[in-house]
Amino acid sequence: MGNRANFPPTSDRQRNKVATFQREEKTAQVELHSLHLSDGLPLPESILDETEKDRAAAFRSCAARRLFVGGRILCRSIIGNLVGSAPQALPIAITPFGRPYLPAYPDIDFSLSHTKDTVALAVCRGSRVGIDIERLDAFSESEADEIMPMILSEQELDQMRQADPRHRPDAFLAYWVQKEAALKCLGQGFLADPRSVIPVPGGTTFSIRNRGRSEPIFVRPGRICGEEAGDFQWAIATSRPVTEPRWRHHKSGISF
Ligand SMILES: CC(C)(COP(=O)(O)OP(=O)(O)OC[C@H]1O[C@@H](n2cnc3c(N)ncnc32)[C@H](O)[C@@H]1OP(=O)(O)O)[C@@H](O)C(=O)NCCC(=O)NCCS
Repeated sequence: MGNRANFPPTSDRQRNKVATFQREEKTAQVELHSLHLSDGLPLPESILDETEKDRAAAFRSCAARRLFVGGRILCRSIIGNLVGSAPQALPIAITPFGRPYLPAYPDIDFSLSHTKDTVALAVCRGSRVGIDIERLDAFSESEADEIMPMILSEQELDQMRQADPRHRPDAFLAYWVQKEAALKCLGQGFLADPRSVIPVPGGTTFSIRNRGRSEPIFVRPGRICGEEAGDFQWAIATSRPVTEPRWRHHKSGISF
């Protein structure tokens, strides 16, 4: 006879097992990592593949190059450790829209974001993921006022106009990180219209209205208050509900 569990479960142990399984079925797992690129932090480009080395070499700005290289070192190290691969051996491909993905591990998705001297990585098993991170001073009041109509829906703009002007950049940044995370989750980035990413009232779900289709995206926003690295707003967006995300901040190199 095969090793079949009784269904419906007849003991507490079996009931717990089934409950855990059902929870795991519905909930994907996400990990968040940040790497602060402090002066002098070594970033060994030998970990990159040939395409990444070529891309790194093409940057004119040292700061932009460090952010790109830092991001790839962070994701290669963390995901390599997760799947038991040497960081430099991990195949990373890129969609025609620029979204990196792991062709050898279709169940694992990741997303990168960088701002000033910090790189953030979200790694997710069982769901697509997008992350965005921005420093709290990303937009001045006048910049926020100028960009808002390109990002916010009419209703969101009305709410923003009613808000205290001093709080507008912060409130706008919250929309920005959530919408950018959602568009990165979908893989289009700002090729899609951010005004079509609409929060669903009463929850952390957004609806993406795209060419007549509407699909739910689960968004979790948050803040990081870091001493050296600065203060940030961040958001992750996933195509399925995820476990409570926890950050690991790698300040002086990547540790597991
Ligand atoms: C995705 C996008 C919003 C990111 O903007 P950004 O100002 O660079 O912001 P972040 O630092 O938060 O994110 C950068 C990371 O997003 C990821 N990314 C790039 N395009 C992406 C896409 N279409 N979907 C999801 N993620 C994407 C990359 O990992 C990138 O980091 P990397 O280049 O170091 O690997 C913007 O690049 C975009 O709209 N891209 C799509 C359209 C486009 O311009 N494509 C041209 C290349 S084919």
